[in-house]
Amino acid sequence: MATYFDLMAPFYDRTGRRARKAVQKVTNAVSFDPADVVVDLGGGGGSVAHLLKNLTAHIVVIDPSRKMVAHCRKRGVLGIVGSAEDIQLSDESIDKVLLVDSFHHIQDQVRAVHEVRRILKPGGQVVLVEYNPNMWRGASLSFMEWLLGMGSTFHTPRALGTIFAAGGFKTRIEPSQHSQYLLVATK
Ligand SMILES: C[S@@+](CC[C@H](N)C(=O)[O-])C[C@H]1O[C@@H](n2cnc3c(N)ncnc32)[C@H](O)[C@@H]1O
Repeated sequence: MATYFDLMAPFYDRTGRRARKAVQKVTNAVSFDPADVVVDLGGGGGSVAHLLKNLTAHIVVIDPSRKMVAHCRKRGVLGIVGSAEDIQLSDESIDKVLLVDSFHHIQDQVRAVHEVRRILKPGGQVVLVEYNPNMWRGASLSFMEWLLGMGSTFHTPRALGTIFAAGGFKTRIEPSQHSQYLLVATK
């Protein structure tokens, strides 16, 4: 999977339009404290993290694609090569974790939920932006990624809520707009 995103890195979200829309959804749903330590998990080239830098001084992207992480660094965003299934951070060290358009790419999602819970402080939040495979755009994206053999697993809002609830989180789902929905899970 890193190979696909390594190839995509120079072209991914060139205009930043997609990231701006995602950031608007995220900031409408949760408030950031300037002292928050935030991990953008599967944060790619840092287009989302870059836009959040003025809200929180401590934001780091973790992503398995070396080329995507190189783009973070070009943008002045701290980026670390790593995966959601094995996060190289201490227990209870993080205030917020973002997963924007990345959770469906994670191969071992249950392991990732466990890792996210481990690194979050008590009361910490994970914010996910995902596509609903039961709506038109989510269904076509899911089909396209299946054709490309990307191994993606998309969930409806209710199913994603169930996965995080089973992982020990309290969950809140924001209404879907154009297939995209937001889930906030609190430790
Ligand atoms: C569609 S991109 C989204 C990037 C970024 N969140 C954004 O919105 O601009 C999905 C990202 O998930 C990353 N990814 C894939 N598998 C992952 C994993 N196991 N753990 C963390 N990130 C992963 C990819 O490398 C890619 O950068």
